[in-house]
Amino acid sequence: MAYVLVTGGAGYIGSHACKALRAAGYTPVTYDSLVTGWQDAVKFGPFEQGDLLDRARLDSVFAQYEPVAVMHFAALSLVGECMQDPGLYWRNNVSGSLNLIEAAVAAGCLNFVFSSTCATYGDQDNVVLDEDSAQMPINAYGASKRAIEDMLANFETAHGLRHVIFRYFNVAGADPDGEVGEFHRPETHLVPLMLDAIDGKRDALTIFGTDYDTPDGTCIRDYVHVCDLVDAHVLGLKWLADDKKSRVFNLGTGTGFSVREVLDQSHAVTNRAVPCHEGPRRAGDCTKLVSGSSRAKAELGWNPHRSTMKQMITDAWRWHQSGHYDA
Ligand code: UFG
Repeated sequence: MAYVLVTGGAGYIGSHACKALRAAGYTPVTYDSLVTGWQDAVKFGPFEQGDLLDRARLDSVFAQYEPVAVMHFAALSLVGECMQDPGLYWRNNVSGSLNLIEAAVAAGCLNFVFSSTCATYGDQDNVVLDEDSAQMPINAYGASKRAIEDMLANFETAHGLRHVIFRYFNVAGADPDGEVGEFHRPETHLVPLMLDAIDGKRDALTIFGTDYDTPDGTCIRDYVHVCDLVDAHVLGLKWLADDKKSRVFNLGTGTGFSVREVLDQSHAVTNRAVPCHEGPRRAGDCTKLVSGSSRAKAELGWNPHRSTMKQMITDAWRWHQSGHYDA
């Protein structure tokens, strides 16, 4: 049985990836510090608690399992937080990834799938962003991810570390079987906050900014279903196994939804209006992030068939109502 080392496997996206890996015949080994992850979400393979900054621990996990590949999800990813404490992001994301990459190379594990972000593109005035768009991050989170992308290219040149980089747009939804779902502590993401507000688990949602240069004044994002997103990662492993060249892929659908449109859709799905009020802009937010997503479809054969707003909110709502990881 081939092991894949999954950093951040106890988190939202990582736990869904572990399920997809298991279904594809791999055994995911979760490496997670549990600072933001939940051990209860580790259901599909062994768990090794550890921090990316602990090189000795990483070395021993590589030696124990001899994984065929690494999927690197573990990162801090809050735009608001990174504006307040950029050092945290450079230390945890960049230094942590450097440790992981060096440990992988030392162990001879030269296939690497990396979670990057559309936040590396920055705020580019209403263009659809494809993989060749300039990377001009406007926050430390995006800058840290761009630095890791550069690191991977340098390590390929020097040590043959082959990699697939996925730049995520906004991930939403949950496993339709209800085994895993979205949970963050603290929660800052639009969809779970909105669902919490609907059933009174939290205060009314604040809409961050209504004076953006968009048709309804609220920010526009491109949402992708978490199950479609992790399917792309399994295709990324196959890409590397087939000995194809290192490659960057956007993961989004190419369709943007404003904050108000997401609220309207969740009203339609849940039959309940989202209690909300208008507030000021949140520092670090881009006006519009929409993916040019044809490369992943054309080259990987990716088919994001679950990524309608209705399906994402339906699956998120089902998970929400199951009461797992309540706020
Ligand atoms: N929003 C609100 N009110 C809230 C929360 C969010 O209006 O209480 C708005 C945001 O301003 C933004 C949209 O809803 O316009 C989506 O916000 P999220 O916090 O859900 O997601 P972000 O777009 O800020 O961030 C996500 C990921 C990041 C990633 C980024 C790239 O969390 O990791 O997408 O845009 F970098």
